[in-house]
Amino acid sequence: MKILVLNASPKGKNSTTVQTALYLQALHPEHTFTFLPVGQRIKSYEKDFSPLRSALEEAELVLFCYPVYTFIAPYQLHRLIELIKTDGVDLRGKFASQITTSKHFYDVTAHRYVEKNCFDLGMKVVRGLSADMEDLLSARGQKEARDFFDQLLLCCRQGIFAVPPIYVPKREKQTYLPCLPEREKALKKDVVIVTNCGEEDQNLAGMIADLHAALPCSSRVVNIREFPFDGGCLGCFGCAITGKCVYKDGFDEFLRKTIQTADGFVYAFTISDHYTHSSFKCFDDRQFCNGHRTVTHGTPIAYLISGDYRYEPNLRMIVEGRAEVGGNYLAGVATDEQDTTAQIRALAESLSLAMEKGLSRPANFYGVGGMKIFRDLIYMMQGLMKADHKFYKEHGIYDFPQKQKKRIWQMRLVGALMAIPSVQKKAKGKMTEAMVAPYQKVIEQARSR
Ligand SMILES: Cc1cc2nc3c(=O)[nH]c(=O)nc-3n(C[C@H](O)[C@H](O)[C@H](O)COP(=O)(O)O)c2cc1C
Repeated sequence: MKILVLNASPKGKNSTTVQTALYLQALHPEHTFTFLPVGQRIKSYEKDFSPLRSALEEAELVLFCYPVYTFIAPYQLHRLIELIKTDGVDLRGKFASQITTSKHFYDVTAHRYVEKNCFDLGMKVVRGLSADMEDLLSARGQKEARDFFDQLLLCCRQGIFAVPPIYVPKREKQTYLPCLPEREKALKKDVVIVTNCGEEDQNLAGMIADLHAALPCSSRVVNIREFPFDGGCLGCFGCAITGKCVYKDGFDEFLRKTIQTADGFVYAFTISDHYTHSSFKCFDDRQFCNGHRTVTHGTPIAYLISGDYRYEPNLRMIVEGRAEVGGNYLAGVATDEQDTTAQIRALAESLSLAMEKGLSRPANFYGVGGMKIFRDLIYMMQGLMKADHKFYKEHGIYDFPQKQKKRIWQMRLVGALMAIPSVQKKAKGKMTEAMVAPYQKVIEQARSR
């Protein structure tokens, strides 16, 4: 079979991920593997797509190989998908699968993103392999890679592939024109609206103008399409110790001084390719200069989204997951699907309330699970990720349960007592009563306030 490996890691041949594809190639000389370092060549494909078009046309199976980057794929792969769709190369009926390496932090959303785009291209999608960075170094990881490939080959031979999602007819997009009057800016807060609004995003421009008008505080717009990025994150880890990026385009300073200083963040974009224009992904990835530090913890965020958000469950998970992991209160998402003006008004109110009162909510599974991955990762990599380690120590993020010695001893004592039949008999029916007693105290206190 003719297999085209699209190596979208910015590290090219030094990519960890591509090693798994090379491993499979070594085991399967009966198949033709072609490797293209698309992550490194993205600028050249922007100028001339024809070499990639020919390779894609030749392929029977396209294998996307990439690292998970900030919940999705690296900017370079987002850009590549844009180029493939713009070119219009016919990939219908070809098989598509993927190999990623990561620390499993939101690898699910990355895989869904690539799958959804492959469905758009009419490809036959086969479940990919989401490996940990180090998996290939273990016998188990090697077996899992081989198992993945055996299953993939079976699927290609027998024509087994994922059922594409139900086609949702694109609604007639209503033009949105700004209509809200400018409100008095009595609240002393500063909101930054970060957008990648292009000339074609007229609805988004209208929504931004209305949110600006509806907010009871000052707001400023930062259009990241105008930022002179030298390129996407290179994954070089040059920033791990100092927090300084190897690029000299000044983005890290700009991020820290112009964006992160705000009291509230609004992200505003138009949906495309199941996320948004790749310029936003460049912005996301380059924030790696903050490492895994939740430096804006507590700052509320909100979204203005133009497009069929309700039909993008993966994007909804990304939006919520990012707020959860960052410890940012998600004040809401306003879209241009229906009642846009009312949604924007409500968003302005919610965001103001969150800023004024410092609203917070408990982290859910997306937040708790994500932070546990980071906690364990940084603890292990503390020698290299010094800035992250310092931050985690200072902010009490190392909440390893095994450190709670008092609680563990308490539970041992309770367990030992409950093992005694006479205690068991006495405690019957009283356990839940005992457990709820401290909560009742809180309620009593609230009543007597
Ligand atoms: C900018 C950046 C963002 C990352 N984001 C994630 C992430 O969201 N989830 C995760 O598990 N790992 C993340 N990682 C770790 C990479 O996925 C991991 O190091 C991967 O194995 C690198 O593969 P490569 O050598 O093929 O580029 C990120 C790394 C970088 C540099």
